[in-house]
Amino acid sequence: MATPLVIRDRNVMRKLILTNRTMGRRIGFVPTMGSLHAGHTSLVDQAVAECDDVVTSIFVNPSQFGPQEDFEQYPRDFDADFNLLAQHDVRWIFAPDVHEMYPPGDSTRIEISGPAEPYEGTLRPGHFSGVATIVFRLLQAAPSHAVYFGAKDWQQVLVVRKMVHDLKLDVEVVTCPTVRDTDGLALSSRNTYLSKSERKRAPTIYAALEQAEQNWCQGLAIDTIEQKLKDMLSAKEIQIDYADIVHTESLKKISEVSPNTPAIFLIACRVGSTRLIDNILLPSQALSSC
Ligand code: PAF
Repeated sequence: MATPLVIRDRNVMRKLILTNRTMGRRIGFVPTMGSLHAGHTSLVDQAVAECDDVVTSIFVNPSQFGPQEDFEQYPRDFDADFNLLAQHDVRWIFAPDVHEMYPPGDSTRIEISGPAEPYEGTLRPGHFSGVATIVFRLLQAAPSHAVYFGAKDWQQVLVVRKMVHDLKLDVEVVTCPTVRDTDGLALSSRNTYLSKSERKRAPTIYAALEQAEQNWCQGLAIDTIEQKLKDMLSAKEIQIDYADIVHTESLKKISEVSPNTPAIFLIACRVGSTRLIDNILLPSQALSSC
């Protein structure tokens, strides 16, 4: 496997990609904030399987963190990330510094309504504006055929899709399955914040989502399904920010189990002081996939 080339400059990155595009190569892009784990490498592997060349960005984006959030303490280990990406056939690593992406005096932001408003949008004001702004700028620097995101950040995927649609960006947005540890905990860079005892409790999040899926298939009322999940998490002292069954696209709350409605159970919660999100797609009973 070839050693990835590290590029720090937006224009250099853009020229390289455009040159390779003119040679007929299909480019896949995996944006990340580093601190890479098997969730990220699964995105890379899918991109490698579907494209000729893969570019991964490593950039901890300040504009998507609120003032009280963990921007400063967010884990950073460029060498470990580089070595991991080298094992996964990434051709280019785009690793700009903050001024490269946000030049001094920069004040331009992308604001998206609709999917960016509820849930994370309400609890983390400005978060999705920061995400959309950086994804747009990264796509300018790395104008790729396809960009890969994990389904764990379901709302983020909807926000990026909306931006791509509204701004007619010429890129395919690919959503890849959530990768989980053997005990079910969704992989996240923030899992490193968990103490030993918190890490033991955290798999309850997915266990509760799986229980909810079973209850959904048994036809229990939505309120009951949600309450049972909340009870299971409360028993492990996991604090819930939200836990709602919603329409997969509109994110509107679903009030009745209905065979044809595409539904997802979205959850954000805190284990100790670590905030984690997760979700489970609820099978369509119309297709009797329960
Ligand atoms: O999902 C992430 O890691 C970030 O939100 C992203 C898409 C890389 C933008 O900074």
